[in-house]
Amino acid sequence: MAQEPMKTGLMKTIGAGLLREDDSGTEVQLAGWIGRRRDHGGVIFIDLRDSTGFAQVVLNPEDAPASQDVLHGLRTEYCVQVTGTVRPRPEGTINTDLPTGAVEVVAERLTVLSAAETLPFPLDGRTDVDEGLRLQYRYLDMRRERVARNLRARSKAIRAMRNVMDEQGFLEVETPTLIASTPEGARDMLVPSRLRQGQFYALPQSPQLFKQLLMIGGVERYYQIARCYRDEDFRADRQVEFTQLDFEGSFWGQEEVLETIELVARRVVTDLGHSIAPDPFVRMTYAEAMENYGSDKPDIRFDMKIVDLSAVLAQTEFKAFAGVLADGGSVRGINGGQLGLARSGLDALVSTAQEAGAKGLVWMVVEDDGSLRSPVAKFLSQSELYAIAEALDAVPGDTLMIVADRTSTVLEVLGRMRLHVGQPEGHDDLAFAFVVDFPVFDVHEDGTLSPAHHPFTAPASLETLVDSPETAVSKAYDLVLNGSELGSGSVRIHDASMQAKVFEVMGISADDAQRRFGWFLEALRYGTPPHAGFAIGIARFVSILQGEPNIREVIPFPKTQTGADPLTGSPSRVEEDQLRELGIRIAPDVVAAWAEEGGGATATPDV
Ligand code: AMO
Ligand code: AMP
Repeated sequence: MAQEPMKTGLMKTIGAGLLREDDSGTEVQLAGWIGRRRDHGGVIFIDLRDSTGFAQVVLNPEDAPASQDVLHGLRTEYCVQVTGTVRPRPEGTINTDLPTGAVEVVAERLTVLSAAETLPFPLDGRTDVDEGLRLQYRYLDMRRERVARNLRARSKAIRAMRNVMDEQGFLEVETPTLIASTPEGARDMLVPSRLRQGQFYALPQSPQLFKQLLMIGGVERYYQIARCYRDEDFRADRQVEFTQLDFEGSFWGQEEVLETIELVARRVVTDLGHSIAPDPFVRMTYAEAMENYGSDKPDIRFDMKIVDLSAVLAQTEFKAFAGVLADGGSVRGINGGQLGLARSGLDALVSTAQEAGAKGLVWMVVEDDGSLRSPVAKFLSQSELYAIAEALDAVPGDTLMIVADRTSTVLEVLGRMRLHVGQPEGHDDLAFAFVVDFPVFDVHEDGTLSPAHHPFTAPASLETLVDSPETAVSKAYDLVLNGSELGSGSVRIHDASMQAKVFEVMGISADDAQRRFGWFLEALRYGTPPHAGFAIGIARFVSILQGEPNIREVIPFPKTQTGADPLTGSPSRVEEDQLRELGIRIAPDVVAAWAEEGGGATATPDV
């Protein structure tokens, strides 16, 4: 619970949650909400809650703190003001679990500031409330400790970020949110222009190009707590609207950026009350991350590395393995440790691997005598079984899992199996990792390429990019925490001809580049300093530190899984007049669909 002193105004002299034994004997004025109310034969106890916590208030009708009607009419969540005297709680009623548990306030006067209707759900923190209802009444939901605690943590995290940025000499600069489209890989959210009918602003997917313009503008060190908008599919760690700590530095390369990220991450972690080892964050290349963990955002709270068994199985007669090896694929495995699974559990591992895209999975359980029990043991020679056990450091009781396929599939599947069996439960270690040297392109199964990063990222070598784009490496890096991507950045291209070349390799034609980013290509021609930067997703960071499974829990007013806000009803239809002013007409099929829903169209097609 936050215990910072709050400024007291006329209505209250102290936060309810701040009262301590030392305050005994003093007269206080409290204001807040009635959390719990208990009648004890004439005496009424209420938990008076405000943003600092809560305190017990004793209302004795005989002392007439208010009229009988008022006292007996008090309901939970009434907003009230209490004047009274602090006293130590009587022996036996002290609650050591509560910061204010040693005292209570004996009320001399109680005023109802505002009555409350019956709430749509109880705020006791014990009741499981449907998420839709929570979001519809977010303002009530945030009176509950869970959201309130997360809002405080988020505020602290942002303050920590600002403090580090300020100490490091960064300038906080705001960039516009009505802009021309920036390519970050998602769909733009568009805003129609009234003054230029038929034209649209895009909301920024990130401040990427503006921060680069700030570098060209000589700012040298920029940061911003930036709102970003991306029309992409929702996931537990994605919203259409989210906030980044965005920063950029001139005359900077990767090292300076990573150093700054580490400073920021450490300050946020410690300010939120966690501890973290002083060792530098683990650093690995993208290739190492994929090879060892089957993921570009490895959870390294546990080891369980993927091991290549292709060499030890090179001569195998087991068809499922031999066929794959002959086709240029690989056979790899992980040691899942002491899983203690029954046959049904082992079979379930196979299904999980198949759902992840594998053709099959071979499991092996190490027996007490060191032999391997497996449905395929009979197809493998003793020396192969021995070599597998050795390569995977197997000891009796271990469960080994082996997959054969195209190497990318094997890594992906074993990466998922690793998380499936190895997820540390109730583990609160914070395992940060930098993943560096990302490829320029993601190579898809059909051999097509798509840019792995925005096209302003510098390639490690232009020659490789042109000659062998599928193996080209970029100067891009990510920060990973406990298996989640927290942030991402890169060294940028600072040369107009290099930028034009990269657009070309990325499949953006010269004409297209000129039309969409001509203004930026021009800016690059006026003495652009080498620069590099990064952006951290604030909700992702805070949700992990708070142990929350979904970033919605740390966003004050989030959207649902379908992008809707049940509180304000957005997105919503608008008045015909508004559309007419914008020169916009809703397509007839959409209006027809509305009519079918029976929703009463507000905007008709004959605008
Ligand atoms: P990127 O697109 O990787 O990089 O975003 C950086 C970080 O922002 C967070 N993030 C999100 N959080 C919630 N909902 C979303 N839909 C969402 N999308 C991204 C993630 C992610 O790691 N301009 C570049 C940064 C740079 O190159 O400096 C950028 O935005 O935590
Ligand atoms: P099959 O020859 O298809 O009957 O498979 C025999 C065993 O090998 C089964 O346990 C399968 O799950 C397993 N298996 C089949 N294909 C693969 C593969 N590509 N990688 C790992 N295991 C496999």
